[in-house]
Amino acid sequence: MTILVLGGAGYIGSHTAYELIERGEDVVIVDNLETGYKEAVHPKARFYQGDIRNREFIDSVFDCEKIDAVIHFAANSLVGESMVKPLKYYDNNLCGTKVLLESMVEHKIDKIVFSSTAATYGEPERVPILETDRTMPTNPYGETKLSMEKMFHWTSMAHGLKYVSLRYFNACGAHKSGSIGEAHNPESHLIPLILQVPNGQREAISIFGDDYDTKDGTCVRDYIHVTDLAQAHILAVEYLMKGNESNIFNLGNGIGFTVQEVIEASRKVTGDPIKAVTVPRRAGDPAKLIASSEKAKSVLGWKPEHADLEEIIESAWRWHQSHPRGYAK
Ligand code: UFG
Repeated sequence: MTILVLGGAGYIGSHTAYELIERGEDVVIVDNLETGYKEAVHPKARFYQGDIRNREFIDSVFDCEKIDAVIHFAANSLVGESMVKPLKYYDNNLCGTKVLLESMVEHKIDKIVFSSTAATYGEPERVPILETDRTMPTNPYGETKLSMEKMFHWTSMAHGLKYVSLRYFNACGAHKSGSIGEAHNPESHLIPLILQVPNGQREAISIFGDDYDTKDGTCVRDYIHVTDLAQAHILAVEYLMKGNESNIFNLGNGIGFTVQEVIEASRKVTGDPIKAVTVPRRAGDPAKLIASSEKAKSVLGWKPEHADLEEIIESAWRWHQSHPRGYAK
């Protein structure tokens, strides 16, 4: 199979490209390198630098390569940034996907797997969250991802394209090789920020609120290893290749950990006391997000293999120790 990975120089995209190549698949990567890194592109992938909003560019990739399926990660994905720059999110996430779909329809490429998010649910009515639960995003990032899902739905009705939307919970961890991992600039995610403390780059980790209705007052999240996410994308491509219908799946471990528990596990893994200070809540953070991934398990046959929180943190710690500044030299 030849798979086009859009956004394959980003965090989850690069891990998916690595897994595909390890399985012997032929991989083409497109990335505009706005938030991705050339160093994260697998050396065996054919790489095209460009933007999916550029119709001529994306047409030229489909003209040059014989693509069997597309995996689409090319989007902006920071909740906080989306609140202050909503139109950036509408432009890249929605306008980019519109151009991509026009080109796919014209080139008769009819299978796509794409990254969606738990942010499509907003404040959940209950946990664990099912795919059929209410979707009411509380930020432009989640809103644009939900609109992308709808764009796929209506395009599939009109043009016969088949899609799988994967709603991730909290992606974390790093590849076992230690050569790729999480690198955002600026960093806003909990585990990389915690690990900056033992790495000597931050004095303390801030806990955003300890007065939530949870067991220790800090927010609960469902942390899922990036390699397990990557495997789910491959299973989703295979699902579409078998001629199955379009579908939506949650991807999480189904286990919630509080911010305090993640800090405690990081102390164990690193052997560092990791100073923590409580600060006010961050706007827009739901108290608890936990996935029900039963559907992905039963329909796709997905089985997360790195569900242990300490194992996840260990893999992240290896990466951050060897790459304290991410991909920067
Ligand atoms: N947190 C802290 N201190 C920090 C950073 C984070 O206490 O310095 C807390 C947050 O308040 C939250 C938890 O740690 O409770 C996890 O925060 P992250 O920023 O790592 O992740 P989020 O849960 O906010 O975001 C994740 C994904 C998004 C997705 C969102 C859905 O990264 O892509 O879930 O709500 F949109």
